[in-house]
Amino acid sequence: MESVPYLDLTFQHHAIKQELLQCFDDFLDEGRYVLGRGVDTFETILAAYHNKKHCIGVSNGLDAMTIGLKSMGIGPGDEVIVPSNTYIATWLAVTAVGATIVPVEPDLRSFNIIAADIERAITERTKVILPVHLYGQSCNMEAIMKLAERHNLRVLEDNAQAIGAIHKGKLTGSWGDIGAFSFYPGKNLGALGDAGAILTDDDELAQVCRSLRNYGSHKKYYNDRIGMNARLDEMQARILSIKLPHLNSWNEERRKIAGLYLNLLQDCPGVTLPYFTDPESHVWHIFSILVDNRDALQNYLKESGIVTLIHYPLPPHLQQAYDGLPIEKGAFPVAENMAGRVLSLPIYPGLSERKVTYVCEKVRDFLSREGN
Ligand SMILES: Cc1ncc(COP(=O)(O)O)c(C=O)c1O
Repeated sequence: MESVPYLDLTFQHHAIKQELLQCFDDFLDEGRYVLGRGVDTFETILAAYHNKKHCIGVSNGLDAMTIGLKSMGIGPGDEVIVPSNTYIATWLAVTAVGATIVPVEPDLRSFNIIAADIERAITERTKVILPVHLYGQSCNMEAIMKLAERHNLRVLEDNAQAIGAIHKGKLTGSWGDIGAFSFYPGKNLGALGDAGAILTDDDELAQVCRSLRNYGSHKKYYNDRIGMNARLDEMQARILSIKLPHLNSWNEERRKIAGLYLNLLQDCPGVTLPYFTDPESHVWHIFSILVDNRDALQNYLKESGIVTLIHYPLPPHLQQAYDGLPIEKGAFPVAENMAGRVLSLPIYPGLSERKVTYVCEKVRDFLSREGN
């Protein structure tokens, strides 16, 4: 029996192991542990990669969004439009600043929110659109930016899952007023712990974000605003600088693996495959299929040595954390339906064609037994 983990980072880390060890050596020798040369360098190269003016390294993706919203002055009474089917962090950032979450259902094919549906949710209290490039696929940012301009709204992109994806010639995370990034280890660009970043072209937002991540201080022991300790860790920044030059080729590898899945599962009865239009617009952080008998398929794959995940089993509005919101079960049927049917198949740079073929054979085996 093959063994197929959901994710295996050893391939990428083996290839750069000497550089990683050397960077730890340098770090020890230099002895600057917080906001040192490593953070500066990573901020410079991430901004350059995205052709943005400012990058502010922060502790994680959730803090990137929270600080981003705070820098825009978002707070109680303001409404922020978010997808109904995102990872809970997107919602938590809005809650963290005391603003009101306004969920919008995703498009049935791309799983991303689209301008026409966002527009229906806009009220006079709407301040920000917070689209998520879910599973690694860009939203239609051109349409969302036009909509935001028409209604005089800010846009903060949750780009935790889609670093390197390109929409209409421009990278995700570089369209909005602010792009928020996560470098959680399993992300397409992952640190060896928690890490995140904020990108913007706006000098004022950048200056406020920089201060907010560091106790609201511009100068040691002088605090202008109520800040956080949400700095990008110096060691993680150095690791990310070593990994960033590999991102494009790792994303390309993900595209090849996704292509293989799409090919081998083509016309498989009972499976809805991911939909996309432009190969550049997807970096396949997650390869997610829809199946009716999802839990049984997941078990069958597990017994066959294949680990799969569910992104996500319970939408944010049904989480206990959001019991206090006046949202009933059934309010967001698309998100609820997805939660019962999505299944994420293994995908990572280094995953062999043999293993992908094996996964597809097992998916087909199961579905043909089910009488699909
Ligand atoms: C869509 C999305 N938004 C935000 C986050 C939060 O990022 P982090 O775990 O770095 O806080 C994640 C990742 O976990 C995510 O997948």
